[in-house]
Parts: sequence; C-alpha cells; structure tokens
Amino acid sequence: MDPPQVYLNNAATSWPKPPGVIAAVNEALRLPFSEAGRSAGGLSSDCVADTRGTVARYLHAPDPNHVIFCANATDALNILIQGFAKKEGKPFHVITTQTDHNSVIRPLRTLEAEGRCRVTVVPCTGSHVEPAAVAGAIRPDTRLAVISHGSNVLGSVQDIAAIGRLLQERGIFFIADGAQTAGLVPLDLRNLPVDAFVFTGHKYLFGFPGTGGFYLRDPARIAPTRQGGTGTDSKNPFQPGGMPEKFEAGTHNYPGLVSLAAGISFLEQTGADAVTRCIRKQTAIFLEEFLATDAIQVYNPSPELPVISFNIRGLGNDDAGFVLRKMYGIVTRTGLHCAPLIHERIDGGSGCVRISPSVLTPQDDCRHAAECIREVADRANSS
Ligand SMILES: Cc1ncc(COP(=O)(O)O)c(C=O)c1O
Repeated sequence: MDPPQVYLNNAATSWPKPPGVIAAVNEALRLPFSEAGRSAGGLSSDCVADTRGTVARYLHAPDPNHVIFCANATDALNILIQGFAKKEGKPFHVITTQTDHNSVIRPLRTLEAEGRCRVTVVPCTGSHVEPAAVAGAIRPDTRLAVISHGSNVLGSVQDIAAIGRLLQERGIFFIADGAQTAGLVPLDLRNLPVDAFVFTGHKYLFGFPGTGGFYLRDPARIAPTRQGGTGTDSKNPFQPGGMPEKFEAGTHNYPGLVSLAAGISFLEQTGADAVTRCIRKQTAIFLEEFLATDAIQVYNPSPELPVISFNIRGLGNDDAGFVLRKMYGIVTRTGLHCAPLIHERIDGGSGCVRISPSVLTPQDDCRHAAECIREVADRANSS
C-alpha cells in the first residue's frame, strides 16, 4: 500500500517518527539487550534506566525510579485504577469526566459492576471541565478521581493544577491521563498536584507503539496487580516492594523504550516553544478553511491541542473518511474515537471526523489537506 499523502491521525499514533528514532532503534537492535540486574556486563548501555532518566528529566519528575514503564496509556490506567481499588479494599466513590477515554471509563465501569466503586461522570461546559463541577461531585466517600488532561476529541486541555489542588485538599487520589498532552504541553511534575500522571509513548512523544507508563508520587497508595521476574531479589517469592520493580514484571520492550528516549530527544531539540507555535499555525490553517463554509460543522473551533473534530453536512463521518483516504490520500480518524460520552453532547452520539497533525506534518500538507476537505464538503453540499 502506498504511504498516505497526508497523515492526520497523530492523536491515535504519530507518523512519521523522527529519523533519529528509527536510527536509535536500529542501533539498539544491533547489540544484545542489557539491563542492570538482568545481564552480566552487557555490551550496550542500560537503555531501560537511560529512558527512565530521560522521561523523568522531560516531565520534571522528582524521582526517576517512580517512572514506571508498561505497554501504553491504557495499560498504565488499568495498573493504577485496579491497584488503587485493591489497596482500598472496600467500595469507594470515584469521579471521572465526560471527556474521558474508554481506557478510563471501562476499567471504572468494570469495577463498578463488581460492586467495588460508584462512578460519577462530571459533564464539561463548552470544551472544558470546570474545577467547580469536579468539586460539586465530591461526596464523603470519594477516594479517587481519574481525569483526562487533554481531550482527544475536543483538543482542550483541562486545568489539572486547579482540579488537583481541590482534590488534594480533600485527600482524594488524583490520576491525570496525559495521553494527549505529553509531548505537546510543557509539564512539571514537581509542582503539579497530581498523585499519578499517565503518559503514552507512541503519540506526541514519538516513540513506538507498545510504550507508555506513569509517574507515581507515593507507591504505597497502589497495590501491585502483576507479579513476575525483575532480575532482583530473586529468592523472594513475592514481588519486590522497591521502585520501579513493584510495578514492572518481565522483560521490557527495550527497542520501544529506546524509541521513546529518542522521541523525547527530538522534542527537546525542537523546543517546546517551536512545538506550540507549529500547532497554533497548523490548527489556524485548518480552521480558516473549515469555518469559511457552512458545509463543515466544526465542534471545537478553539482547540489547544492539534485536534479538530468536525462533520461534513450530508455525509456520514465514515463515508467522509473513506473518500478522503481513497480519493485524496488523506488519513483522518472517524467514529467515536473511544470517547463515546463526549459525542453524546457534540454530535448526538454518531461520531465525527477528526484531523490531528503533528509537528512533523509540513504546513503545506496541512493547507493542501484543508483545501481537499473543503472541496469534498462543498461538493457534497452543491446540489
Ligand atoms: C485521552 C486518552 N487516554 C488514553 C488513551 C489510550 O492510549 P494508548 O493507546 O496509549 O493506550 C488515548 C488514546 O487514544 C487517549 O486519547
């Protein structure tokens, strides 16, 4: 299959990856895997520890050993949510929001179906979740809040500092889902009032799929739900309690972790300001074209992330995506984007087309794609 002319699905997984990412993985695969505690005098450096250090530096995480690696953001959320419930031991109340992804909603609803928690979904106003609305949902038995930092449909960024402060005052454990923001929004975990911050490697951090993890401030709050080899304390029949081994069992996806470190190096070299400027320019290019026609209904005219969700009047979102891919070589994402609750509000639950460029999408490609989408919309509405 030919590569797309324009790939606009980076909110799902980023493509292309920076050339340095592919080169670093090639180099890592040339040498045998070597991780401290698991290898005798390896030929290569300990890429797991190196990547832990790189992620901690990039997110300003106070302790690299509290950065835990797993398969993706979904995996991280499952480890945290289930580990929190296991530690709590008795049923509790949990808050999430209308913007949240199924990787939050499904683990929570599953716990709820098992009688282990009660879930309140806080609605959003416009594109944002008001901290006051979160405060209003708190009950005496609220113990946990799991809230997406960035919406993969609305492209909005929630004020997790304000939300975190009010949760902290009430002793509520706060997991922020940063799947859409890590790599786009500068983060400083030293000062952000979150108990755990989830990231994924394969979106805007430019690593490979199969990478992600979380930062956990106080490991005592989460029980481990996985057990296995760590290369340390091997006579112990139970999972060692130190960090990071408490939450990491089995062999790491080390080529993936090398890709993640190289992706972050690319972002550091590019610079956060340049990333922000690029996103603003790209979204402006699309919005200028989309908002100039009645044939396109845009659901988020002021995104903070490089995400624009829309429908073409008179054309189903799947059909629009098909035409764009087949006739113009433009890859978008259609449907519910694994965030069904927000669609009930914006498009009656039927889904939409989403475009999401990355800093590696040339501006000329954005302009060309915007014109093509407008052309499809105008033609669909011309008769
Ligand atoms: C807000 C949000 N949370 C979680 C996820 C899940 O990410 P992953 O594919 O890394 O599991 C996504 C990705 O689609 C997302 O947009």
